[in-house]
Amino acid sequence: MPLDGRWGRRDFLVATGIGALGVGLAGCGTGDAARPVTGADASVAAREERRRKTGAGHKVIDLVAGPYAFDLAGRVVETFAYGATVPGPEIRLRAGDELEVRFRNDLKTATTIHWHGLAIRNDMDGVPTMTQAPIKPGDAFTYRFIVPDPGTHWFHPHMGLDLDRGLYAALIVEDPAEPSDYDEDTVVMLDDWLDGIDGASPERTFSALRSGGGMSHDMAGMSSMSGSMSSMSDQGDVDYPLHLLNGRPPSDPSTIRVAPRGRTRLRIVNAGSDTLYRVAIGGHSLTVTHLDGFPIEPVIADAVVLGMGERVDVVVQASSGVWPIVAVAEGKNGAAVGFVRTTDSDATPPPSVGGRLAEHDKRVFSNADARATEAAALSRAKPDRQVTRALTGGMADYTWGIDGRTFGDHRPIDIREGERLRLVLRNDTTMVHPMHLHGHTFGLSGDRGARKDTVLIPPSKSVSLDLNADNPGQWMLHCHNTYHLEAGMATELRYVN
Ligand code: C2O
Ligand code: CU
Repeated sequence: MPLDGRWGRRDFLVATGIGALGVGLAGCGTGDAARPVTGADASVAAREERRRKTGAGHKVIDLVAGPYAFDLAGRVVETFAYGATVPGPEIRLRAGDELEVRFRNDLKTATTIHWHGLAIRNDMDGVPTMTQAPIKPGDAFTYRFIVPDPGTHWFHPHMGLDLDRGLYAALIVEDPAEPSDYDEDTVVMLDDWLDGIDGASPERTFSALRSGGGMSHDMAGMSSMSGSMSSMSDQGDVDYPLHLLNGRPPSDPSTIRVAPRGRTRLRIVNAGSDTLYRVAIGGHSLTVTHLDGFPIEPVIADAVVLGMGERVDVVVQASSGVWPIVAVAEGKNGAAVGFVRTTDSDATPPPSVGGRLAEHDKRVFSNADARATEAAALSRAKPDRQVTRALTGGMADYTWGIDGRTFGDHRPIDIREGERLRLVLRNDTTMVHPMHLHGHTFGLSGDRGARKDTVLIPPSKSVSLDLNADNPGQWMLHCHNTYHLEAGMATELRYVN
């Protein structure tokens, strides 16, 4: 099934409450007459009611997605954006609040919004055909759900290759109860950019990847792509012409102003499509405090690496001056660049930045260093069941999948509410994949392993994820490389009755 939402009969199937996927695949899972739980199921509404807290707030936001002429340091490209800005307008609310987003699609193509990292009600999860009909051009849709957990999250479309455009924004859930160990906080959004540069587009990039070796220099409009696919590393397939920090290219960097010696929480989000970023700040160490929104026991590091979809929060105490914050593209050329400037250093000219900083190669944070805080840790009870899935595919025909199958032909992972599952993801490919699960967070292995929703699976390695089945519905499990997802590297965690 294409993920770009070509829409036909499934429209009808979803509208009648019969999960389109469930129909085609009944009997492939547990083998008995298991009935998939869809968004219309009473258990989804019941779960939502258990999230409701008395006295919680209700936040209403109007949001529009539309075409946008994006000015990249004087070079204007035609792209798509939320609220005519890249990144889109940040949404902030408090844990327990209900969010109501009155969304209108002014694009010429259908879209949906996925609220990445939030364990919300299934019918608001924004996956076309799985949880809702795509929102057609000119149509409106109201997303309404309770936001259960604090943390650094974000939102983006879940249609085709649109995530490799300007459609992304931060969704910050503040914790009214959190002991504040910082004075101010700010979001740092990283993104790899090609849309509109020398005629490039996500669709042309995908077809070049698909046609195998197609990323050649003589291909019209691809002249800015240095390096052929075969010379790319196992960390990315596309050599992007630009990397953006808070929507700005290195030639026109954004500046984060902070109080000298004040403690600033940087909420770093990798909104890229095919790039891992290694982030460091010149002359400073970082205190890593949260992964994918959930707190860990603080770890001091000099650099952090984020896969696509991942978030890392760090606290920095800036010395007086102007300091480069640099996100180098792992295994590629180029970097996203910004500056941290203390308010007493307005007259100081920014240093010239040559790319990689010494800090990038000092203490690099690893998930293995992380322990969830006692309050955030998931139960350490033994899982009821273990399921292993293999990540498969390669560059030859650019087919990426799970267990050799692409999405639409996938075998769902069936689960019952209340179960505790250990999911082992084994990477049988030569490339790293950031695997993301919707609607849940999982615990990494180890005593109080970090709690996350997206995790990098290195080539030839396995990662095991423990999760509690506490959010009924149909949920995507997929690679957060936009091009791998489009190629089919996705399956489904499917609650059944
Ligand atoms: Cu941020 Cu299904 O993804
Ligand atoms: Cu992948």
